Parts: sequence; C-alpha cells; structure tokens
Amino acid sequence: MKIVLGIAGASGSIYPARFLKKLLELEGETFLIVSPASIRIFREEYTIKVGSPQDILDFVIEKWNVDVKNKIHIRPFGDIGADIASGSNTWSSMVVLPCSMKTIASINAGLTENLIERCADVTLKERRRLILVPRETPYNQIHLKNMLSLDQAGAIILPASPGFYQLPKSLDDLGDFIASRVFNLIGIETDLYKKWSPE
Ligand SMILES: Cc1cc2nc3c(=O)[nH]c(=O)nc-3n(C[C@H](O)[C@H](O)[C@H](O)COP(=O)(O)O)c2cc1C
Repeated sequence: MKIVLGIAGASGSIYPARFLKKLLELEGETFLIVSPASIRIFREEYTIKVGSPQDILDFVIEKWNVDVKNKIHIRPFGDIGADIASGSNTWSSMVVLPCSMKTIASINAGLTENLIERCADVTLKERRRLILVPRETPYNQIHLKNMLSLDQAGAIILPASPGFYQLPKSLDDLGDFIASRVFNLIGIETDLYKKWSPE
C-alpha cells in the first residue's frame, strides 16, 4: 500500500510517533512530509534534539528498535513541485497526523502553499481517502466550520480523542489507540489495539 503521511504542527507528537513505528514495520511505501512547526513540537514534547524529518524517523527507529520494512520517501515541506504534488502519481490515502487548525483552514481554503496542503488538495480532487486528525481544544466556530466543510468535501475528520474504555496503561497506549483508528480507515489490519468486546 502506498500512502502519504503529513505531520503538521499540533500538539500530540506521540500520535505520529506511534503511527510511524507501526507503519515502518509494515511492508509498503510511504511519502513523508513534515512541517517545521511539527519538528519544533517533537523537540518540546519528547525533549529531544531533532531538526529534520530524518531525525524524527531515526528517533522513532531507535526509541522502539524498529525493524524497518516500509519504504519511506521524505519529501520537503516547501517542495510544491515534488512528485507527489501531482495527481498523476497514485497513492490510496493521505493522513495528516496530527493536523493543526492552520493546516485544516488552509486545506479547506484550497491554498496549497506547502506540500502537505498541496497533497491534501490533490487527494481530495482525485477522490482518494484523506484523513485529518485535528488537535485543538476548545474549538471555535472557524475550526468547526472548516472541519464540517472538509467533511462535506470528502475528508474524514478523526479527532485526536483516544478512548479510555480499554484501560490504557501508558502514553504509548493512547498513541496506539489513535494510530489503530487511522490504520482501520486506510484499510490496514494491525494488532495495535484489540477490538472492543464487552466480555
Ligand atoms: C508547542 C506548540 C504546540 C502547538 N499545538 C497546537 C495544537 O495543538 N493545535 C493547533 O492547531 N496548533 C498548535 N500549535 C500552533 C501551530 O504549530 C501553528 O499554527 C503552525 O503555524 C502550524 O503550521 P503547520 O500546520 O504548517 O505545521 C502549536 C505550536 C506550538 C509551538
């Protein structure tokens, strides 16, 4: 499976970190776009010195000793002429995890000023699956209207709101909850979280 993963600058680095961990372990191909703001947030939330998308990948691989099977292609955030800026390249789904309110607003307005926004725009116009994982609280009407409009345009809004009914024991468990929901939506079965059963 070929997907695009955008990491935008919202709180919750645990979500892309745990999603990447699992993704790297799976066969497939991924185009990775990381915004400068998200790198800054990784630095703050993991208290580590990362300065580039490759640093984030290396951090995930080393932290969890990942056996990498996925082919990852990093594409620069500012490269609006990259291969994946065109719908002539095919990918089945794009995920923006997490997604800032700024990126939500830009995608909704069709601005396409950077490669995350451009790819999201292409994903929608090509009628492929676009999953946006917003993180903000509380929401104002602008946020809510943008998300409603994106849903109407075909995107899936999957809030970074992990459930607690399966008794998570760690932050990693909360990250895996959201990662597992994203994997479900892009059609990849994982063992990240057991399916709910009342027994
Ligand atoms: C530490 C930190 C945490 C942030 N958390 C959020 C957040 O949870 N949600 C959000 O919408 N923006 C958040 N922001 C603001 C965005 O990073 C900012 O709007 C940025 O321009 C987003 O750009 P990007 O979407 O291109 O990455 C945060 C910024 C910093 C520095």
